Amino acid sequence: MTEENKVQWVYSSKNNRELVERYDQWARDYDADLADDFDYRAPQMAAEIFTRYVPRNARVLDAGAGTGLVGEILAGMGYSTLVAMDMSSGMLEEARKKSVYTELHRMVMGEPLDFPTASFDAVICVGTLTVAHAPASSLDELVRITRPGGYIAYTLRPDIYENNGFKEKQSELESAGKWKLVEATEPLQTLPRGEPDVLMQVWVYRV
Ligand SMILES: C[S@@+](CC[C@H](N)C(=O)[O-])C[C@H]1O[C@@H](n2cnc3c(N)ncnc32)[C@H](O)[C@@H]1O
Repeated sequence: MTEENKVQWVYSSKNNRELVERYDQWARDYDADLADDFDYRAPQMAAEIFTRYVPRNARVLDAGAGTGLVGEILAGMGYSTLVAMDMSSGMLEEARKKSVYTELHRMVMGEPLDFPTASFDAVICVGTLTVAHAPASSLDELVRITRPGGYIAYTLRPDIYENNGFKEKQSELESAGKWKLVEATEPLQTLPRGEPDVLMQVWVYRV
């Protein structure tokens, strides 16, 4: 299967069980397929924006950490307390090998997260709030586990923002005084070689 088909293959999962099976299967080749062959830029883009707000000594959750591409970049930038969370144990196994996370947890976004309230200084979430992956309702739990004054940064496709409940959830949280928008980038190309039409925005909120 080509890399392009693998992206579509995970997007077309019918439920979480199928999604986990597919990521478990893809885990070993994911980095080579996406980062090397596909020129996948979202982790680098999101990390660069994240550093504008979050100090290096922060305790950071990488939500939907996958194989740890984001953690690897953040560690290279000087972050040392990085916690990985993902629902695929195959992906987490690859993330573990990168030796950049202090903890790794298998959990499902969209369900209650087994982390105490206000237990992170910041959350970063790249490529995971998307079609057939983590739903808009996941944001409630990300807000709960982030301390007041902490930051949540994530990537989102503009069409998913408009059509999958994110627009409503983001403004609901803002109206409820749970968070404030700090920055939303222009839509940026994240898979320039494989899928040039896929654009993502990086959103940053302060809790
Ligand atoms: C496209 S990968 C992104 C991984 C990594 N953040 C990156 O940028 O390379 C999406 C990841 O989200 C995980 N995922 C999808 N839905 C999830 C959910 N509801 N809860 C937790 N993890 C989820 C998948 O297992 C996969 O590892």
